[in-house]
Amino acid sequence: MIYLDNAATSFPKPSFVKQAVIDAMDNIGSDGRGAHEMTLRASRIVYSTRQNIAKLFNADAMRVCFTLNATMALNTAILGLINANDHVITSVQEHNSVLRPLYKTGADLTFLPIDEKGNVKIDMLGGSLKANTKAVILSHVSNVTGNVIDIKKVGQFCKEHNLYFIVDAAQSAGVFDIDMKEMNISVLCFTGHKGLLGVQGTGGLCVAENVDINPLVVGGSGVHSFSKTHPDEYPTRLEAGTLNAHGLAGLNASVKWLNENGLASLREKETSLARLFYNELCNLPQIKIYGDVLAENHGAIVSINIADEDAGIVSDALYEDFGICTRAGAHCAPLIHKAFGTENQGMVRFSFSHQNTEREVIKTIQAIKQLVAE
Ligand code: ALA
Repeated sequence: MIYLDNAATSFPKPSFVKQAVIDAMDNIGSDGRGAHEMTLRASRIVYSTRQNIAKLFNADAMRVCFTLNATMALNTAILGLINANDHVITSVQEHNSVLRPLYKTGADLTFLPIDEKGNVKIDMLGGSLKANTKAVILSHVSNVTGNVIDIKKVGQFCKEHNLYFIVDAAQSAGVFDIDMKEMNISVLCFTGHKGLLGVQGTGGLCVAENVDINPLVVGGSGVHSFSKTHPDEYPTRLEAGTLNAHGLAGLNASVKWLNENGLASLREKETSLARLFYNELCNLPQIKIYGDVLAENHGAIVSINIADEDAGIVSDALYEDFGICTRAGAHCAPLIHKAFGTENQGMVRFSFSHQNTEREVIKTIQAIKQLVAE
């Protein structure tokens, strides 16, 4: 099997992540729910995870709030900050985890378009401003094209115009360096199971100072049990109910490792695999490639089509005939598919990780060439 679906979830998980989850299952109680040793062990793990996440993103550890995934983090940020009378600038490259909460707010939305290589036209930000613009909400890296947005530049724009800047880092966390303070990010939403190499059911949002998000979910907090309202203080403010401390133990191990190792060497490896893949395919007339794969910054995602062939059929053939795992279809990002005219055909997405090898990429190229020839 050749696993090229790392944008959906990274695989394999590092052995130290697995071990940390097993250790937690053997040793911990419930975080923040008591004072015995079992519960304290859970709290130490959760707090250590906050610290390691805060270090990775230059965030405030006590404003790192854990959720089940990036979708829940984005719902929390968007529904907790945006109202029907606000205007929000976003883009056509967004995932449904940004689009659907935004539609639900009833806010007035402006979608920045893309150019022919799929790059979001952030130079149109200024012309999109309205008197009631409250926020800019963008994914750092497209889950369809792998194109990267210059979030430092957008953050500067938001600072100048006093706007919230909400970043969907689902595809970039653990891959690209993100500095919340330097990039003026108001809310950074991440998932634990992709570039951060952790397990599914982990994720969260890092909230900047002076950003007060109305909680999406309220309930058990372990403190102030007689109050009719959920505590205002972060991180409890956005964390109702028992956390996935077993999963966070795994995330803690992987983020600690990423902090020690740095992201550059991992990113360079996966980028070079994506470029190898692109360079071998770009001259085949039957292959259409979407995205700016050779850009200086690019996520290791390459989406393609073979002539007019349905992407699902190609993806199935890659798996059934060659054991290659990809993701076909619309990737929960309808507007970018409309922009590329692929809403019916879909695309076949290949997403690489530093754990893939050149040999796997070459085998995949050979498989595609064989499908093209058939
Ligand atoms: N959003 C994830 C993907 O693009 C699941 O595959």
